[in-house]
Amino acid sequence: MKKSFSDCYDLVVYQIYPRSFKDSNADGVGDLCGIISKLDYIKSLGANAIWLCPIFKSPQCDNGYDISDYRDIDPLYGTMDDFDRLLAAAHEKGIKIIMDFVANHTSSEHEWFREARSSKENPYHGYYYWADRPLNDWRSEFGGSAWEYNEATGEYYLHSFAVGQPDVNWTNPKVREEYKAIVDFWVNKGVDGFRCDVLDHISKDFKKGLRRNGPHLHEYIREVFGRDHLENIYTVGEAETTTESILATCGQDRKELKSVFQFSHLAVGRRGKYTPVPHRMDEVKKILVRWQRFTQKHDLLYILLTDNHDRPWFLSRMANDRELRYESATNIAAAVFLLKGIPFVYEGQEIGCANSHYSDLASFNDVECLGYYKENEGKIPESELLERINFGSRDNSRRPFAWDETESHGFTEAKEPWLPYATRSKEINLSSDEKSEKSISRFYRALFALRGEREALRRGSFRQLKRFKRNCFVYVRENEKEKILVVCNFEKAQKISGLPEGKLLLSNARRQSGANGEYAAFECAVYELE
Ligand code: GLC
Repeated sequence: MKKSFSDCYDLVVYQIYPRSFKDSNADGVGDLCGIISKLDYIKSLGANAIWLCPIFKSPQCDNGYDISDYRDIDPLYGTMDDFDRLLAAAHEKGIKIIMDFVANHTSSEHEWFREARSSKENPYHGYYYWADRPLNDWRSEFGGSAWEYNEATGEYYLHSFAVGQPDVNWTNPKVREEYKAIVDFWVNKGVDGFRCDVLDHISKDFKKGLRRNGPHLHEYIREVFGRDHLENIYTVGEAETTTESILATCGQDRKELKSVFQFSHLAVGRRGKYTPVPHRMDEVKKILVRWQRFTQKHDLLYILLTDNHDRPWFLSRMANDRELRYESATNIAAAVFLLKGIPFVYEGQEIGCANSHYSDLASFNDVECLGYYKENEGKIPESELLERINFGSRDNSRRPFAWDETESHGFTEAKEPWLPYATRSKEINLSSDEKSEKSISRFYRALFALRGEREALRRGSFRQLKRFKRNCFVYVRENEKEKILVVCNFEKAQKISGLPEGKLLLSNARRQSGANGEYAAFECAVYELE
């Protein structure tokens, strides 16, 4: 039977980085009760699902992506009772909860690993990858060798990420049983979906030197997520995103995942993670169009996103986060979130958060950027290294959410938040935004309200207009009943003509004229066509 994913097009997902969203117990760290207190805010934006970054028990060496107990909540965030209350309160408001599923690695403090590392005979030993000497020259994503010595057994274990994140050996059927039971535990609680962390890493091929996309990847995904009772569970994978791999993972006959993120447009404007390169929004547009066509042709879900907890702000890199911050942020929202797919909004994006600038290393926490610093210390001049970290650190998007302009920004009652606030929080915070004539969050509300009202913006087809015109993105979304035109001008003011005329539905400027005419830098407008 052909499976239809059409209901997923009604989703608008709001991603929460729990540490940084809202603190309720004055310890400087965001928590579950804080999230409960802001559900109405999330709903007011038009979101109807929340993706929670990991809240499980963890020593926090990678802020929760190092899990020591998959069935418990880290005390930093609250208790299982708090979680149950969050789930119930969210459901009552029509908001789904999507959990992070981190299955490539556990924490080195997980009971499995503590047992595994104690002796070669331990039944858990085979839950991880061991070798008498480093099997290859793989580097950890966070710097240094990916192999770490373990004294008790005289062996090395593999960690693709931090030393405290040993890779789990999925070739072991017991491991797969464990993860199936973990998924079922949360599904039985009533969660609605999973975002699957670095999922393509769960199958490796040491002989071929493949750390990801190994020969058993699809078989493993199917074994866990292809089970019949998970049919209505939403899944989105973080995995390699070639057209072939997406078809293989999300094809309707595959019984694997409902969707996979595509990040290729987010690589524009930088080389590696820490070096800016010249760029234009047109490059992003080209990539988006390519994916719209591909996913449309194959009836695959596409994820609409520009930001998450792993990247500095898209707005700061790709557009003007100073005098045209409102225009840029709203233009990006219109260009991306009115395409065909599922919008994923990352906390703070809806108020136009921008990168910070700190001149001391102590203001950073991200294990990835600190690893980069360590690897390059002495090789690159200190001041340049700091510039690079300011540009590329994941901390940019992980700084506490600024709810208002007060000293602690309505985030916490503690003296200090766990990570210093963004350097522009006095200017960029929700309360100031809502008071402003140019309110980004108001635009987001209007945009998602429109998306909710117009079926064509959710399920309608995508067609690009003005394909060869530079510095703008123009497209039509339509079904049998509705036809909607989206016009996003980019960096430079210019005249756009030859467009069909229609009734103005949404604009980030006080647009007087019709669809044809002068557009200011980052002006955007949405029209209903006859
Ligand atoms: C993913 C997460 C990232 C984490 C890494 C290791 O890429 O999004 O935050 O550091 O996996 O789990």
